[in-house]
Amino acid sequence: MAGNRTFTMIKPDAVGAGNSGAIIKMIEEAGFRIVAMKKTQLTKERAGQFYEVHKARPFYNDLTAYMSSGFIIPMILEKDNAVEDFRKLIGATDPAKAEKGTIRNLFAKSIDANAIHGSDSDENAAIEGSFFFSKFEQF
Ligand code: CMP
Repeated sequence: MAGNRTFTMIKPDAVGAGNSGAIIKMIEEAGFRIVAMKKTQLTKERAGQFYEVHKARPFYNDLTAYMSSGFIIPMILEKDNAVEDFRKLIGATDPAKAEKGTIRNLFAKSIDANAIHGSDSDENAAIEGSFFFSKFEQF
């Protein structure tokens, strides 16, 4: 059975452009409850740990440099079928391929500066959520 939690973070491009409020509004209007949220900045080393699975990929260095370049807003979200429904709401990784009306279609600038991250499985949602939040920070 699909789990009811996912993890997201609004990326530096979207926070810097002042789009975090509009994005959070879309998330809540789509029926997600915010379980935990904060505004923070990653060091390049911490960004590297978060994206460890992509370490061998050619885009790893640019991605971790970019993800540590400004503020981010990580969140844990709750809804039935959370992982799959959230990935539909944000659209394809490459904004050029993101469906109309999705968060990346509306706000992303490029494949790295793609506005928002969404976990790709229940297992990764739990790992990524606990990277940023202790269980005492979750409501
Ligand atoms: P995200 O969902 O945060 O997960 C990994 C990120 O790597 C992805 O979004 C993109 O921002 C970034 N990225 C850069 N190039 C690629 C690529 N070719 N394929 C997948 N992800 C990429």
